[in-house]
Amino acid sequence: MAIYRNQTGTVEPATTSFYKDVVQGLSASPKYLSSKYFYDVIGDRLFQQIMQLPEYYLTRSEQEIFLMQTKALAKPLLHRFQQFDVIELGAGDATKSTHLLQELANAGKSFTYFPVDISANVIQLLEKEIPERVPGLQVEGLNGDYFEMLEKCYQVSKRRKLVLFLGSNIGNYTLEQAEEFLLELNDHLLPGDLVLIGFDLKKNPKDILAAYNDRTGITKAFNLNLLRRINEELDADFDLLQFDHFPTYDPITGACKSYLISLADQEVRLGDQTFSFARYEPIWTELSQKYSVQEINEMAIHTGFQPVQNFFDCRHWFVDALWEKS
Ligand code: TRP
Repeated sequence: MAIYRNQTGTVEPATTSFYKDVVQGLSASPKYLSSKYFYDVIGDRLFQQIMQLPEYYLTRSEQEIFLMQTKALAKPLLHRFQQFDVIELGAGDATKSTHLLQELANAGKSFTYFPVDISANVIQLLEKEIPERVPGLQVEGLNGDYFEMLEKCYQVSKRRKLVLFLGSNIGNYTLEQAEEFLLELNDHLLPGDLVLIGFDLKKNPKDILAAYNDRTGITKAFNLNLLRRINEELDADFDLLQFDHFPTYDPITGACKSYLISLADQEVRLGDQTFSFARYEPIWTELSQKYSVQEINEMAIHTGFQPVQNFFDCRHWFVDALWEKS
């Protein structure tokens, strides 16, 4: 059996949760793979390229909101709180939030920015870079589980909280999972705390499909990279030429799903197991849920929040929704 190398040394692939999740997904009917495994070094790089695609409007729409409406975003926070902390779940490179942090710092507030991310690399980088971008800002990176880290923030400081969950991260959850996540988030906050959440909005289905099916094939390469990663790290033999990328969008439910389609009857080995694929059998790899403004407001109420203000880009393709814990 091939050896799987991770940052802590070498381990048998069959003992990793990556392996177990892949086996579980490929044993299910219909088959699926978790989108959290897209993001290895190559996947990260391909996603950077996706964000540059003319068709992929999501990043630019939210970027526009943070760039053009920075003062409006800061206002409700400055009005309500004398002292506060800003927590960002899944901070990534924090490009968007930096605009807001800058504005809050300019307003003369002293506060701490807690970026939370499951990638230790990301946290290390942010702790170095953010103080360079916003001089004087206190940054305390937290590497780990969202809710455990949120509890840590309250242990460190009793100040009011603004929690950022941007970039349509919430779209990767099903509607039920999103509600569950928001209820748990609500449970970890105190009344009056604020959350700012990015939602991709329902729009012309053609514009949505184009964003997940660019002509240059980068999105296809990104989806297929999951199989390449499984080959490399889990000792499998997927033939990447025998799978195709296929996105769908249902304008009624707002579910945008990506699949990998088996182009032949084939068997794939994974460690000492074999998985059979029928010709045209799909593997579901990603959900990117789109919402209406009404659905977003209802979701807030259902999960113990009060909608405060919606911030839209100029086309109304994306919204950052500001809610207060009731
Ligand atoms: N989660 C991102 C999104 O839903 C990532 C993504 C963009 C993606 N394009 C994709 C995932 C294509 C799978 C396939 O927007």
